[in-house]
Amino acid sequence: MIIIGCSHGIHLAKNVARILHKPYHKLKVTHFPDSEIKLRFLTDIKGTHVVLVQSFYGNVNDCVVETLFAAETAKDLGAKKVTLVAAYFPYLRQDARFKSGECVSLRTIAKNIDEDLDKIIIIDPHLHREKTLKHIFKIASKKISANQLIVDYIKQNIKNPVVIGPDWESYKWAQKCAERIGCDFAIMEKTRYSARDVKVQLHKKIDIASKNLVMIDDMISTGHTLLEAIKAMKKLGAKKVTCFAVHGILVENALQKLRKAGATVITTNTIPNEAAKIDVGRLISEALQ
Ligand code: R5P
Repeated sequence: MIIIGCSHGIHLAKNVARILHKPYHKLKVTHFPDSEIKLRFLTDIKGTHVVLVQSFYGNVNDCVVETLFAAETAKDLGAKKVTLVAAYFPYLRQDARFKSGECVSLRTIAKNIDEDLDKIIIIDPHLHREKTLKHIFKIASKKISANQLIVDYIKQNIKNPVVIGPDWESYKWAQKCAERIGCDFAIMEKTRYSARDVKVQLHKKIDIASKNLVMIDDMISTGHTLLEAIKAMKKLGAKKVTCFAVHGILVENALQKLRKAGATVITTNTIPNEAAKIDVGRLISEALQ
C-alpha cells in the first residue's frame, strides 16, 4: 500500500502513512497559465494498492478533476487497486433534479468515480435522499464517521452538556452524539428560503438552565443554519454555545460570524481550518486496515 496525498489531502495522508507505517508520496500537481491541471506520480506505483487521500474544499471542481486524473493515471501506470479516501466529499446535496432542466451533479461525479476507482471511503457523507453510498456508487464503498471523536472531545472538555441539532438533517449526528454522551437533546426545525436565508424553531421543550449548550451538525458552510439556531437559543436564555461539525467548510467568513455571535466553533480536520481541533487520521487509518 502506498499513501498518496492529493493537493487537499496532504495534511491527512502524511499522518495516515505515519500511523500505518506505509510509504507516503505527494502527488505533483501544477497548473498551466490557463488553469489546466497537470499531475504526476513521483514514485513507481506498478502492482501496488494506491490510496489517494483527498478533501474536496476550496476550488472543489479542481479537486474533482485532479482526483479523477490521478485515479485514471494510477490504473494506467499499473496500480493493482486504487482507493479514494474522501475526507470531505462534495456534491452530495445535489442528488436530485429540484427544478426541470437541472443537472443531477452527484450522478455525474459518481459515474466517473465508478469508472476510475476500485473503492471509496468517505467520512460522514451528507446522505439525504440517497440513504446509503451503495445507492450512489457501483464500486465498493465505506462510510466512516467522526461522531465518536466529537463525543470524546465533548466528554473531555464540556461539563453538563445538552445537545441541539440545528436542523432535521443533523438529527443523525446530534441524536447519536447525545446518546453516547448520555445527555438530553433536541432538534430545530429549519425552513430554508435560500442558500443564505434560513429560519429555525426548537421541536420540543428542553431544559437548558445551567447546561452547556452544544450544537452538532455534519458541516458548517456559510454558517447561516447555526447562526439562526444560536439566535433562537439565545432568545430562550442560552448564554454559551459550542458548535461542533465534522466538516468545517466555513465559507463567507462563517467562523468570524459565529464567533461574533458568541459561539465557540470546533470541527474535525477533514478540511483544515482554524477551528479544526479534532484529528481524523486514526479514523482513516482504521478504515484502511
Ligand atoms: C444541511 O442540511 C447541512 O446539514 C448543514 O446544516 C448545512 O449544509 C449548513 O449550511 P450553512 O452553514 O450554509 O447553513
